[in-house]
Amino acid sequence: MDSSGFKLIRLTPEYQFTAPFNCGDSDLNDFLVSDAKNYQDELLAVTYLLLDNQNIVAFFSLLNDRISISDVDSNRKWAKYFRDIMPQGKRFKSYPAMKIGRLAVSENYKGLGIGTMIIDYLKQLFISNNRTGCKYITVDAYRQSLSFYEKNGFNYLIESDKANLTRLMYFDLIIMKH
Ligand SMILES: CC(C)(COP(=O)(O)OP(=O)(O)OC[C@H]1O[C@@H](n2cnc3c(N)ncnc32)[C@H](O)[C@@H]1OP(=O)(O)O)[C@@H](O)C(=O)NCCC(=O)NCCS
Repeated sequence: MDSSGFKLIRLTPEYQFTAPFNCGDSDLNDFLVSDAKNYQDELLAVTYLLLDNQNIVAFFSLLNDRISISDVDSNRKWAKYFRDIMPQGKRFKSYPAMKIGRLAVSENYKGLGIGTMIIDYLKQLFISNNRTGCKYITVDAYRQSLSFYEKNGFNYLIESDKANLTRLMYFDLIIMKH
């Protein structure tokens, strides 16, 4: 995908929404226009906009997170992962993570690889330009976007949310580093 014409900006209090944004999900559309600036004010999440001239191509909101071992005890795959990947290493009660609070691509730009480009950008950003330790990317993925995150290398954190509207997923950044 040619992203040379796009610009990534951080949402500021001064930013004026000139054209409507529609990703096909009204909660996400409303969040951008009604809540994103408040979340920023309250230091709850920072939102970024991908722009094509004045058009909002996509937006995403990021916040800090952690994966606590006690939360994932029930996941057999996770227990195996710890045995296999960190057999001798020091284990912690929790690990630092960055959560993708929201991610949405405009209906006009869907299926062009933009969602994947954003995920790739975040993976690189949190490995090579991270200011604090961050081992995982997490997301509460909407049911309709599970296969998108699977294709982007995310795994399920727990099994007990299988029937829920959203599922907790994670990506281990160490995979990219080695
Ligand atoms: C999910 C979303 C962010 C994906 O963005 P996108 O730019 O359209 O995705 P990409 O073009 O990078 O797609 C990458 C792959 O995921 C697949 N994919 C994308 N969206 C999908 C979806 N909703 N369901 C199933 N597969 C999907 C694509 O088919 C593509 O597969 P391919 O590589 O085999 O062709 C976008 O569809 C969207 O904003 N959806 C509505 C809001 C939403 O659900 N956000 C997620 C909140 S957790």
